[in-house]
Amino acid sequence: MHVIWNKDKISRLTPIEKEQWFDCLNYRLEEDRNISLLDPFIADKQRGIKNDYFKYIESCASADNFYKYYIESQDDKIISVCRINIHDNRYILEGLQTHKDYYRNGFASKLINNMIYDLKKDGIKTLYSEARTWNAASNQLQQKLGFIKYGQHELNNLYKLDVETYIKKQLFNQWASNYNQSVIESQKSDTYPFAGYSEIKYQIIELIIAKSSATILDMGIGTGEITDPLYRLGYDITGVDFSQKMIEIAKEKMPKASFIQGEFSEALIKLKSKYDFVIFNYAIHHLSYDNQIMLLENIREYLNDNGIIIIGDVSTMTQEEMDRLHKKYEPIWDDEEFYPILEKYQLSTLMKAYSVKYMQLNEVAGLYQFIKKTTF
Ligand SMILES: C[S@@+](CC[C@H](N)C(=O)[O-])C[C@H]1O[C@@H](n2cnc3c(N)ncnc32)[C@H](O)[C@@H]1O
Repeated sequence: MHVIWNKDKISRLTPIEKEQWFDCLNYRLEEDRNISLLDPFIADKQRGIKNDYFKYIESCASADNFYKYYIESQDDKIISVCRINIHDNRYILEGLQTHKDYYRNGFASKLINNMIYDLKKDGIKTLYSEARTWNAASNQLQQKLGFIKYGQHELNNLYKLDVETYIKKQLFNQWASNYNQSVIESQKSDTYPFAGYSEIKYQIIELIIAKSSATILDMGIGTGEITDPLYRLGYDITGVDFSQKMIEIAKEKMPKASFIQGEFSEALIKLKSKYDFVIFNYAIHHLSYDNQIMLLENIREYLNDNGIIIIGDVSTMTQEEMDRLHKKYEPIWDDEEFYPILEKYQLSTLMKAYSVKYMQLNEVAGLYQFIKKTTF
């Protein structure tokens, strides 16, 4: 069970709740504090530690920088805890601890997952955390949870996590196993969002096979629906996706392809070569327009001469057309997606780096080619 202790709840904690919280944090931790179990003063020392902890939890009820404690429990026993404190307007994850008898059972991941949904409800966009540089387990956990290392301060690695991205990734993991089916159904009914998906797929493959060999980077590869036929024709494929489940499905189809699991811009810096084609099929709309433009600009340096970025997506030529589409599909429109609009790109700095070709395939879908300019 997931429970949240805000300041009000902390001011009313029962003695049993405090005992359980203390036990979760301190069970068998004597060794970690260099206290020998044979120490004749161990009972005194333990009482002293417990007193300090109780004083701390009680102080949270009135501490300015305390935000919330998050608790995962089972059969009325507290198993995993963490708290958020606020420093310099940053929400910082601290004190993540699982009861020693329950390590490696997924409680910490579950706790963090529930906590992130609560942060999203509260409108918090970024969560920060730190891990001792030498603590491999803690660093691994941060990375597994999706935190990205952005620096180091003294003995700590500094991490941050984008709340929206985390939640989107979860949704894609859940969607992965029936993603293909939902594309087929949306296509069959010829409606937003996937009307024209097969036509886009056909056009992308035609464009690429005009070259007898090519290196291809598929950004947001999903289940590998677009690049699998090219893989089977012998093209060199690298797939990027932040969803582990999507990558697992794509990998089954393309065992010898390369994959990078991560967010688009994070994956870019891991690339070791340049590509002839970079594909975003129904993927770039997950970024804001500003981030789309920034990412497309950054990709230029990973494109070979004459390299092309291909974008297939829900798309229109003008904002007005997009507004009309939105109105028509209002009940099923996804307000968290930012579909490509030709005029938006044309009015942006992208035109310095690329020349653009555009094809409107039907009322919903469009296909872009951004061709790398030789001079920039
Ligand atoms: C709608 S699916 C499209 C999949 C595939 N390109 C296709 O055409 O079938 C979008 C994919 O992009 C991935 N994705 C979305 N936002 C991402 C991001 N910011 N970084 C990395 N992958 C992302 C999702 O996990 C998902 O697999």
